[in-house]
Amino acid sequence: MKRIVILCCTALLLMVLFNACKKKEVTGLPVFTLDEISGERLWNRIAVETDYKTYRYWPGHEGVQPGQSPHGIFHRVFANSMLVDSLPIQDRKAPYGAIIVKENLSIDKELNQITVMAKVEGFDPEHNDWFYAAFDKGGNVLAEGAPDGCVNCHTGMRDNDYIIIQALDKPLP
Ligand code: HEC
Repeated sequence: MKRIVILCCTALLLMVLFNACKKKEVTGLPVFTLDEISGERLWNRIAVETDYKTYRYWPGHEGVQPGQSPHGIFHRVFANSMLVDSLPIQDRKAPYGAIIVKENLSIDKELNQITVMAKVEGFDPEHNDWFYAAFDKGGNVLAEGAPDGCVNCHTGMRDNDYIIIQALDKPLP
């Protein structure tokens, strides 16, 4: 009996410790304005002011998933609370302040590149105001702004606010 009590207490303690250590997403930061958005600022937001690994996975698309060209063979897609908390979105328009982070992984599931979309009011009204950026794993900016490559390909999903992985109005799993 004593042993069972000790075991239960240890399990409980471990659970409490685990939850205390699990980092939570920092929320409530001001959304980017047109004047301040840049690749560098965006990296700072997802890797310093917040840690994108504390964001939630795109609902229904959790963990490592197979990807398509030109991104990685595998990927993981995270989105900040501002976006995830508003899903499903009936009019398929993500809110300003939404940030989507995609880790592009190699065939060995090693991190290659990080591609990001951030919705910034007034940035590119013709294409729903998405600011695109690509980073190497050290945070060096490889592409930023509205590069033709990113915009043209994502335009295929114009009706879903340029987001490809999932319909914004899909009911949550
Ligand atoms: C040739 C087409 C193509 C180009 C070019 C492209 N993407 Fe994508 N992107 C995709 C596809 C397809 C997906 C869906 C996930 C997957 O299969 O990898 C995607 C998904 C994403 C996502 C996750 C959100 C979503 O829309 O599903 C982000 C973020 C992203 N791309 C950023 C970028 C950035 C930044 C660039 C430019 C540097 C870029 N993409 C260029 C095809 C493209």
